[in-house]
Amino acid sequence: MSKKVDELIKEDQEYLMQSFRRWYPFVIDHGFGAIVYDIEGNEYIDFNAGIGVVALGHKNEKIINAVKEQMDKFFHYSLTDFYYEVAIEVAKRLSSLMPFSAKVFYANSGTESVEAAIKIARGHTGRQWIIGFINSFHGRTLGSLAFTSSKAIQRKSFSPLLPSTYLIPYPDRRDPLCKEECTEELLGFIEDWVFKKVVDPNEVAAFIAEPIQGEGGVIVPPKDFFYKLNNLLKKFGILLILDEVQTGIGRTGKMFAFEHFNVTPDLVCLAKALGGGLPLGAVVGRKEIMDLPPGSHANTFGGNPLALAAANVILEEVPKLLDHVSSIGKKIIEELTDTRSPYLYDVRGLGLLIGAELRKNDKPFVEGLEKVLYNSFRRGVLAIGAGESVVRIEPPLIISEELAMKGTKILKEEIEKL
Ligand SMILES: Cc1ncc(COP(=O)(O)O)c(C=O)c1O
Repeated sequence: MSKKVDELIKEDQEYLMQSFRRWYPFVIDHGFGAIVYDIEGNEYIDFNAGIGVVALGHKNEKIINAVKEQMDKFFHYSLTDFYYEVAIEVAKRLSSLMPFSAKVFYANSGTESVEAAIKIARGHTGRQWIIGFINSFHGRTLGSLAFTSSKAIQRKSFSPLLPSTYLIPYPDRRDPLCKEECTEELLGFIEDWVFKKVVDPNEVAAFIAEPIQGEGGVIVPPKDFFYKLNNLLKKFGILLILDEVQTGIGRTGKMFAFEHFNVTPDLVCLAKALGGGLPLGAVVGRKEIMDLPPGSHANTFGGNPLALAAANVILEEVPKLLDHVSSIGKKIIEELTDTRSPYLYDVRGLGLLIGAELRKNDKPFVEGLEKVLYNSFRRGVLAIGAGESVVRIEPPLIISEELAMKGTKILKEEIEKL
């Protein structure tokens, strides 16, 4: 580690709250496309994309131009008190991408879009209860935290959390019982146990879920789960909130992951890639549900015009990349599946949201994950972990096949070296 990096890290430790973890000492200076450079000028293949954010890569010219054009007009003018055009333009685009006629509420982050969805669900139904899934990640503010449970440390010492919430198992196919048939088992559990013993379904406002659990370890549910779950929920007038903060905006090879599962949610939470690197979140919901009365929910910065100018470009460009995302994702999975290592338990994912899980003696191989990530960083590939021991691969959607395969081979070699 150079002296400058060392000094910066010491200052970071002195001046920033250390409530998050860093996997390796990477100090970014700048980026271009799917490559980032550290402050010494070293080059890295970016398999993080700022954690699923910069879909069109770093320093995308179309985004820069759109944001500059907006900067020349105005930076901010609180959408919840006034009107501006780009907010309507982006909402129209989002609505046109949904399988229902939609309205949009803008936020600044993923967790804030989840908070809004919770309020919309309660406000619209007049019911209190919301049910989530164990091992999910929905954010860290106190409302969304009630549904975040991919690691106990996320909740430890922050109780009490939101009341009238309940968490049930996710259809996780690592569970031997779940390989084929856990859709029916879980639905039976909900109907026969949750709705009969925990809460009357007529008091449940919504279920909230990630269509693929990302932070929890890239867990892809059985194909029929959400479709059948939604059919059950509709019998009782319960809403389905899908948190597409990570999976949305092309990440899985479709604009939204729910398209893989033949399900139509009522509310969709977005953030991360939507703002092209600027902070932007959104809830996109069925028109008839988005009916909170004036004064009941708002924010100062939601729908920042610079972020919306970037979102306009994102929503124009990402649909053109979907075949590319699917094809590169398949090649990465193929290459990683071919890894010769007793520790590679599973490679899974959709599009460019991919996880390679490491296990030793039938337990998560945490030190193995740390080693692979650190050594790959030393060799010019940046990836981070998910779940307990899953290598998370999430590059910008524009990554070329050549770069994607170069980075994948390095990860593969580091897994083989364990
Ligand atoms: C599925 C999901 N929901 C919500 C969030 C929270 O988003 P933010 O960090 O922008 O609050 C994340 C962040 O990783 C996420 O992956």
